[in-house]
Amino acid sequence: MRAVYLDNNATTRVDPAVVEAMLPFFTEQFGNPSSIHSFGASVGQSVKKARQQLQELLAAEYDHEIVYTASGTESDNTAVLSALEAMPGRNEIVTTQVEHPAILALCQHLEKIGRAKVHYIGVDSLGRLDLEAYRAALSDKVALVTIMWANNETGTIFPVEALAELAKEHGALFHTDAVQAVGKAPISLKGGAIDMLSLSGHKLHAPKGVGALYVKRGARFKPLLRGGHQERGRRAGTENTPGVIGLGKAAELAIQHMADEQGRVKELRDRLERAILQRVPNCFVNGDPLERLPNTSNIAFEYVEGEAILLHLTRQGIAASSGSACTSGSLEPSHVMRAMNVPFTAAHGSIRFSLSRENVAEDVDQVIEALPEIVENLRALSPFWAGANKEPNAFKPVYA
Ligand SMILES: Cc1ncc(COP(=O)(O)O)c(C=O)c1O
Repeated sequence: MRAVYLDNNATTRVDPAVVEAMLPFFTEQFGNPSSIHSFGASVGQSVKKARQQLQELLAAEYDHEIVYTASGTESDNTAVLSALEAMPGRNEIVTTQVEHPAILALCQHLEKIGRAKVHYIGVDSLGRLDLEAYRAALSDKVALVTIMWANNETGTIFPVEALAELAKEHGALFHTDAVQAVGKAPISLKGGAIDMLSLSGHKLHAPKGVGALYVKRGARFKPLLRGGHQERGRRAGTENTPGVIGLGKAAELAIQHMADEQGRVKELRDRLERAILQRVPNCFVNGDPLERLPNTSNIAFEYVEGEAILLHLTRQGIAASSGSACTSGSLEPSHVMRAMNVPFTAAHGSIRFSLSRENVAEDVDQVIEALPEIVENLRALSPFWAGANKEPNAFKPVYA
């Protein structure tokens, strides 16, 4: 049985070329990049090159706008806590209801300890931001707006550049969690209004445990980790040199593969989606069919448990993911599905397929072959399905 990996929004395989680039930095090139002797200096030069590679992927304008961290989560936490400290007299945060827990859990904690007032902006049924509510939440009390570039569950892309312009009018800092977007969608920060951007190595074929925070030159910033002078005093702690080198190489490869990601990978995703919608009754796409990452498809199968679908897919060698989280014994639909008001009967059966440049046509064929029967068999066991209104699929995505 072929193994098919369609869970690339959870993590990606490290590209062999990335591993190759990293290897010398465990052994021969083991020096500390901050040391001035030759062992350190040559590593320092390689770190500098890696920083430029990442800078190029983001089209960042100036040197030293990249601060290395240990994860997307650390980058997100740093951005939020930095803004609250760097913007005295302002204690409000504007964010969305569909952010990753790396933002949401911190915001909820800050509210609980009385450190910040947080505005959680809602989304519509396609996952698009409520712009009116966003404008209404902005004021001169807002220290930070933090809105993700693309949603990890549905792939829906937010118009962050325009949202950042609006935040600027009120003097607020703007951060975007671009962990899912970097490497999949073109990003150009040069000349824009985005002050900070988070990314994570393991989502773009670099290793786990390395991330970065872009901090625009001149943007107010306070470090989270204090200690040594690494990263120009913005993040103390000796850099994860092999990880940093790997992230640089992954950035270089992402630039080379961007057209493939936007073309071939998107076509594979669209073919998978179209075939499922045609062959499986009572299912629909979650998220914005147009403003969406090219690799992500989140499909809601009515009257069936997502976890059960995943289990059966796993038996056939296919790895995907569900939006459900098991909370205190009951399967709760994810906060993203709830924010989008996906009906209860469908939110439970939502499956995320996330592709990467490593996927091929056979992977998609294998899912198209297996899935209709899995859903049919599971529904045959469901009393809800017996009484359901079986209609042709209500919503067909529009393909750009
Ligand atoms: C949108 C988003 N933000 C943040 C993170 C956290 O990144 P990391 O796993 O590097 O901490 C993830 C990971 O799934 C994510 O999808």
